[in-house]
Amino acid sequence: MEQINIFDHASHIMNAVKSGVLLTAKADGKVNTMAISWGMIGIEWNKPVFITFVRDSRFTKEFIDKTGVFTVNIPTDATDPEFMRKVIGYCGSRSGRDTDKAADMGFTLVDGITVDSPAIKEIPLTLECKVIYKQKQDPFALDESNKARFYGDGDIHTAYYGEIVNSYII
Ligand SMILES: Cc1cc2nc3c(=O)[nH]c(=O)nc-3n(C[C@H](O)[C@H](O)[C@H](O)COP(=O)(O)O)c2cc1C
Repeated sequence: MEQINIFDHASHIMNAVKSGVLLTAKADGKVNTMAISWGMIGIEWNKPVFITFVRDSRFTKEFIDKTGVFTVNIPTDATDPEFMRKVIGYCGSRSGRDTDKAADMGFTLVDGITVDSPAIKEIPLTLECKVIYKQKQDPFALDESNKARFYGDGDIHTAYYGEIVNSYII
């Protein structure tokens, strides 16, 4: 396990987010993971943060709301792109309400070091995050074209600001 400075890896991380990474959370002994491709790395309150946007309908949202922590797993250059495409396709279309996605994918879950949410060994670049701010996006503040394109069904995103409290490559 190699500790990393996320700002040294920011460009790699953001390029990976564009094609899809995994957001994982654990509550009541159960783990759930979903694909995300909206997110950003930055600084607020002098802290490094990963901000992610989760729609109301996602089962994963219930986990994060319960515990206030999550992990993000990002592939490295050593990760097989074909495997990653399969993972994102599956974890981005199936809900943890119906199946155990981590088991279905054969993931090796590794306990988080600082937060109680696991990392995924097969997708080794890990951000451990603690929610320090969350805000449901305000439909009235949305640009009309995005409102029409993304929220016809009223399934609004909540922005979760996760302080990155640990970061490493397994
Ligand atoms: C490439 C990709 C990116 C996605 N990005 C997001 C995202 O940023 N936010 C979100 O709420 N859903 C996103 N999704 C959809 C969720 O991953 C999907 O609805 C998933 O089945 C939710 O699982 P859950 O119900 O177990 O939480 C994405 C799906 C794909 C395929």
